[in-house]
Amino acid sequence: MKKIVIVGIFVSIVLLTVVGCGSKKEVVNETKKRNDTSLVLYFSATGTTKKIAERIASKSGSDIIEIIPKEKYTSKDLDYNEDCRANREQNDDKARPEIENKIDIDKYQTIYLGYPIWWGTNPKIILTLLDTYDFSDKTIIPFCTSGSSGIEESVNSLRKYNSKLNIKDGKRFAASDDDKVIEEFLNNN
Ligand SMILES: Cc1cc2nc3c(=O)[nH]c(=O)nc-3n(C[C@H](O)[C@H](O)[C@H](O)COP(=O)(O)O)c2cc1C
Repeated sequence: MKKIVIVGIFVSIVLLTVVGCGSKKEVVNETKKRNDTSLVLYFSATGTTKKIAERIASKSGSDIIEIIPKEKYTSKDLDYNEDCRANREQNDDKARPEIENKIDIDKYQTIYLGYPIWWGTNPKIILTLLDTYDFSDKTIIPFCTSGSSGIEESVNSLRKYNSKLNIKDGKRFAASDDDKVIEEFLNNN
């Protein structure tokens, strides 16, 4: 009888340890896995959006593609206190800066679309992207980085630009945002 009790206690300890470890593992892996195909597609002139894009891709298990401008933006092109190229494009309704790379979006259902905020909204190269590829059967989840501006104005203007697209509210990130912020964004989208 004593032996049975001792064996019983031993089995209980082993079971508790195994079950305990199992639940611990779930707590560490907090990001909900997507059950569709997803792509992080981003434009970044100075690398801030790129870093956030890479973290979103690695945490969500998405593929990642950079939108590369045919004519790269030099620091002079981005000097917004002067009459720079970026300012001129943002002030020109017809500006559609060319994209250098071919981008294959066919197999993706969800697109995380990233860009920096320029003068309160998305850079014009994002409109080139929407003109070039058919996103009508996709869900677009925008994200941006900025000095301080929010993402709302760009989302409104993208929805207006093509009202057939399914564009979620998205999120603005700061370069200093930690992994929790990225996980929260992924779990909410
Ligand atoms: C032409 C230009 C205009 C900008 N306009 C804004 C703005 O309206 N609001 C803001 O918060 N930041 C603004 N910024 C700052 C960028 O949004 C910010 O530095 C962003 O993180 C850069 O991302 P990137 O490194 O991926 O290019 C502007 C930057 C440039 C070059």
